[in-house]
Amino acid sequence: MNTGLTVDERVGKLLSQMTLTEKVGQMNQINNLGLDHGDVIREGRVGSALYASSATAGNVRDAGVDLDNLNAIQKMAVEQSRLGIPLLFARDVIHGHRTVFPVPIAQASSWCPELVEKAASIAAKEAAANGIRWTFTPMLDICRDPRWGRITEGFGEDPCLCSRLAASAVRGYQGDDLSDPLKIAACAKHFAGYGGAEGGRDYNTTDIGYRSFRDIFLPPFMAAANEGIASIMAAFNEIDGVPALANKHMLTEILRNEWKFDGVLISDWNAVCELIDHGIVQDKREAAFISLMSGLDMDMVSGTFIAELPSLVDEGKLSIEPVDAAVKRILSLKFKLGLFERPFVDKTLGKKVVLTPENRACALALAQKSMVLLKNDGILPLKKDIKRILLTGEFARSRTELFGTWTLDGRSEETGSVEEALSQRLPDGVHMDVHINYPDEIVRMARSTDVVIACIGEHPGRSGEANSIVSLDLPPGQLERLKAIADMGIPIVAVVFAGRPLAINWLSKRAAAVLYAWHPGIEGGRAIAEILFGDVEPGGRLPVTFPRATGQIPIYYNHKPTGRPLPPSLKEYGRYNDCLDQPLYPFGFGLSYTSFTYEKLEIVKNRIGTDDSIEVSCTVTNNGEREGEEVVQFYVRDCVASVTRPVKELKAFRRICLAPGEKRIINFTVPVAELSFTNINMKKTVEPGDFLFWIGPNSMEGLEGSFRVTVDGD
Ligand code: BGC
Repeated sequence: MNTGLTVDERVGKLLSQMTLTEKVGQMNQINNLGLDHGDVIREGRVGSALYASSATAGNVRDAGVDLDNLNAIQKMAVEQSRLGIPLLFARDVIHGHRTVFPVPIAQASSWCPELVEKAASIAAKEAAANGIRWTFTPMLDICRDPRWGRITEGFGEDPCLCSRLAASAVRGYQGDDLSDPLKIAACAKHFAGYGGAEGGRDYNTTDIGYRSFRDIFLPPFMAAANEGIASIMAAFNEIDGVPALANKHMLTEILRNEWKFDGVLISDWNAVCELIDHGIVQDKREAAFISLMSGLDMDMVSGTFIAELPSLVDEGKLSIEPVDAAVKRILSLKFKLGLFERPFVDKTLGKKVVLTPENRACALALAQKSMVLLKNDGILPLKKDIKRILLTGEFARSRTELFGTWTLDGRSEETGSVEEALSQRLPDGVHMDVHINYPDEIVRMARSTDVVIACIGEHPGRSGEANSIVSLDLPPGQLERLKAIADMGIPIVAVVFAGRPLAINWLSKRAAAVLYAWHPGIEGGRAIAEILFGDVEPGGRLPVTFPRATGQIPIYYNHKPTGRPLPPSLKEYGRYNDCLDQPLYPFGFGLSYTSFTYEKLEIVKNRIGTDDSIEVSCTVTNNGEREGEEVVQFYVRDCVASVTRPVKELKAFRRICLAPGEKRIINFTVPVAELSFTNINMKKTVEPGDFLFWIGPNSMEGLEGSFRVTVDGD
């Protein structure tokens, strides 16, 4: 409908007709809204409906969205409420809808922003065809503690990688025009610092220093805001005594005033009410007041706004301005989504866009590029002389367990197991036995095979929301069998499924190869078969540091030097008496089926002005006999600054594909402004001085150079 009015004008006009209850109704999101909520809908006391089974919906399968029901509910809102304001339907579409993509931490391992964007655009189409126009993703919580189960939902430990992928995800979900019926509003969560939960215990207190907060935890959210994300979710946690929903500095001064974010700010599930449990308010009334005044627009399911805000305004304890401001943002999103023009879902859309071959091809490519080859003594890809394979391990026959946490709509019958995929791909003359149940039988059968493929790791139920663990070891029992097999000298190819980095020290020593598959989604089985037989390469690189033991946590590559950096002779041994210091596998690491060399590091100017850009290059060569993909990484260190700076920080990366023997010059151009940090005066700035830089294959290797940033570039 062309009204000839701008979105702001339409919002203004509508707002002027709304009663106080209708206004606060828009700020109220209800879970499992049904036809039995007729009165609430007709009276305009709800603005958004959430399809989630419970407070920790990611752990539970629900019945899915019934389109007839959704359209009927919408009909009530549009045709039977006084102002006919459509409802906004929301659901957690975290890593795909029916086409289940690898979990986000796996997607991050692809270091491939283009594919992450494509996957998000497919998820958007499928969700939109299912009536969902608002999703609560991407999760942009930087995490340095894999005990926290939600590490699986994020893009890892690094602000640069996470920010790039954040922007891609936003573009994928939202596109250029939210009114496209196949685009949906995204929501960056959980703002902010949630990934810093002490001890990795979900929902726990965080105590993040203000500089780390600004320089490490916030950048991905800023990237999403700059990309025009439609909404942001305020987190459950507190930081330094202030719960997110009471943090006006964060929600208003940073988000609205500094970043100019004008989208919708929603709470996490029931979080408004939980301010009482945090112990900073007496009751729901105070909770509603403080969260609104801190900057919140919408209350997810606690019912506190709708119960308390109208009387607070009526009694003159709260002015109408913050209510109006919040309602404007919510209505504006609804107008931008085209909900007033097209409130109902076209039921024929699904057939055209759900689970298409193109969608599956994207899931396959993403699974292949996100699996990380951590060790290979040469056994992979499997060679012609291998005639007998024993496939074992808990995941060999799994289907939905390959999906990962937060899979609400993926279906078992639409995916295949590793066993099925391997059987279809077995070369002529190769025999495969499969046994997963009896350890003694597995060991006996292993004796007469050339290789054991062990599909092990953690069930998706061990990661995700409210699933923290104290030990990063493999689940009980798995290693015992493998030890018995290894002791007989039978080579083991371990395929590890997980939602987090596990401490796989033993595997890295004794398995012939370790392929870290994460929870790889709907095409995971096929991706594994194709990788093991060498049809494609495992293309992933780690987005997070892998520890040797749980006790090394927190361990991350962009740590500070300390006053007593380790001398080179001690670098490996470090500070622990009982464990080596270095990670088992560093951030950025991953092997290929070919090998690459780096040479001829160059920098265009090694004295650079603060307004200028750093231009560096190096030559990367594929030395092997097969085509291969490499992720070339550019790191920087600020040598002297007014506050301590990390020993290395990723500033740019590029995924490239080189033919056998091919050499390519890889250039990076990075604005000097990207070297800024929160300095001694709490000012985000670039401090002139000396910098080191590296171009290499991961955070521990690479060619080293230097440059100097000067005020005028001389
Ligand atoms: C989670 C959010 C999620 C919301 C809605 C909460 O428990 O923390 O990430 O989006 O539930 O399901």
